Amino acid sequence: MSQLKLSKETWSSQSIFILAGIGSAVGLGNLWKFPYITGEYGGSAFLLVYLFCVLLVGLPLLIAEITLGRAGQANPVQGMANLARENKASKLWSLLGLNGVLAAGFILSFYSVIAGWSGAYFVSSLQGNFISQDVATIQGDFSALLSSPWQLLFWHTAFSLLAVWIVSRGVKNGLEKAINILMPALFAILLILLGYVVASRGFEESVTFLFQPDFSKLTAEAVLVAMGHAFFTLSLGLGVMMVYGSYLNQQSSIVKASIWIAVADTAIALLAGVIIFSIVFGNNLDAASGPGLLFQTLPVAFSEMWGGWFFGTLFFGLVVLAALSSAISLIEPAVSWFEQNWGIQRNKAAWGFGFVTWVLGIGTVLSFNTWSDIYLFSDKTFFDSLDFLTANIMLPAGGFFMAIFVGWVLSKEKLKGELGLQERTLNQYRVTLRWIVPVLVMIVFIYNLI
Ligand code: TRP
Repeated sequence: MSQLKLSKETWSSQSIFILAGIGSAVGLGNLWKFPYITGEYGGSAFLLVYLFCVLLVGLPLLIAEITLGRAGQANPVQGMANLARENKASKLWSLLGLNGVLAAGFILSFYSVIAGWSGAYFVSSLQGNFISQDVATIQGDFSALLSSPWQLLFWHTAFSLLAVWIVSRGVKNGLEKAINILMPALFAILLILLGYVVASRGFEESVTFLFQPDFSKLTAEAVLVAMGHAFFTLSLGLGVMMVYGSYLNQQSSIVKASIWIAVADTAIALLAGVIIFSIVFGNNLDAASGPGLLFQTLPVAFSEMWGGWFFGTLFFGLVVLAALSSAISLIEPAVSWFEQNWGIQRNKAAWGFGFVTWVLGIGTVLSFNTWSDIYLFSDKTFFDSLDFLTANIMLPAGGFFMAIFVGWVLSKEKLKGELGLQERTLNQYRVTLRWIVPVLVMIVFIYNLI
C-alpha cells in the first residue's frame, strides 16, 4: 500500500479551481470589512500597506498552503500527517490541520450570522423598505434587526442550510455547480454597480480617497490591521486553500493559480471600495463610520439615489452570493476530514458539521441582544471572543506554522516538483517563507496580544 492517502475527488479543471479559490477568498472580508477598515484608517495610505502585505505575505503563503494540500493529497489533518511522515518530522504537525478544521468551524458560525444580515437586507431592499427613508429610520432598522434574536436566528439558519446543502452534494455536483453560478453573477453585479457609480457625483472623490497616498494618516495600528486583513481576505491559515489544493491535479500550476486568486481578490476588494466610497461621498456620508458602513450607511444612499431599489437589492444580493462561496470553503476542510479519516459519508459529515456550527452560531446571534452584557475574555462578547480567537490567534498561528513547514521541513526537491520554479526563484521563495513571512506574522501576533 502506498503511504499516501489519495483523496478521491478532483476539480474538473484548473480554471474551476481558480474560480473556487476566488470564491473562497472573495467574501464579507472584501465587501464588508475591507471598505470599513479602509475608511477608518484613512484610505489610500492604508490601501498601499495592505497591497504590500498581500504581495509580501499573502501570496507566498497562498502558494505554500495550496502546495501543502496537493503534496499531502488529503484533508488538512491527514495531509499534514502524510507530509510529516515523508519528511521525517513530528506527528504533531497534524495539529496544524486540526487547528484549521476547528477555526474554520468557529469562523463559519459567526460568518453565517453576518451573512444572514445581508440576506435580511436583500429581502428588505427587494420589498422597497429603503425607498425614501430618512437616516434615523434606516439606522433604527439595523438596531432593530440586531436586537431581535428570532430574526437573526432565522437568517442564520437559512444561510447555514444553503451552504451545507451545497457542500453535501460533493465537489463536482455541489461546489463546482455553485461556483459556476455564483462567480459570474458576482462579477456581473459588480460591473453593473461600477457602471452606475462611474457616472455618479462621488466617483472622483472616491478614487482620490483610495489612490492618492497621504502618509500622514498612517499609524502603526493601521499597518497591523492591514496585515491581519491580508490573511483573512485570502482565506489563509486554516487549511481551506489546502483542502482545495488537495483536489487539484498534478498538471495545474500552483503559482499561476495563486497569482490569479490573489489578483482577483485584490481587484474585487478595490472595486467594492470604489463603488462603496462613491456612494458614500456622493451622498455626503461618513467614510469612517465603522462596521455599520455597509448596513447603516449604504441603505441611506440607496433610499435617495436614482434606481436605488434596483441597485440596493442587487448590491445586497451580491454580498449574499460572495458570502456563500466563502462559507462553503469553510465547511470543506472538516467534511473531507470526516470523509477520509472517519469513513463518514459526505452527506452526513456536512449536515453534522453544519449542525454543530449552527448551534455555535446561536451564541453570536445572542451576543447582539440577550447576551450583549455577557463577556468571555475581558470586555468581549461571545461574538467578539470568537472573532478575536480566530482572527488574532488561530489564523496567524496557522499561517506561521505553514510557512515554517514549507520553508524548513518540506524537502526542497518536493517543493521544486510542486512549483516547478527556476532554482533562483525557488531559493528566493524559500527565504521568504523561512524568514520574512514568519517574522512579520510574529510581529503582528505579539502586537495583537498586548
Ligand atoms: N476570505 C473570506 C472573506 O474575505 C473569508 C474566509 C473564507 C476565510 N474562508 C476562510 C477566512 C478561511 C479565513 C480562513 O470573506
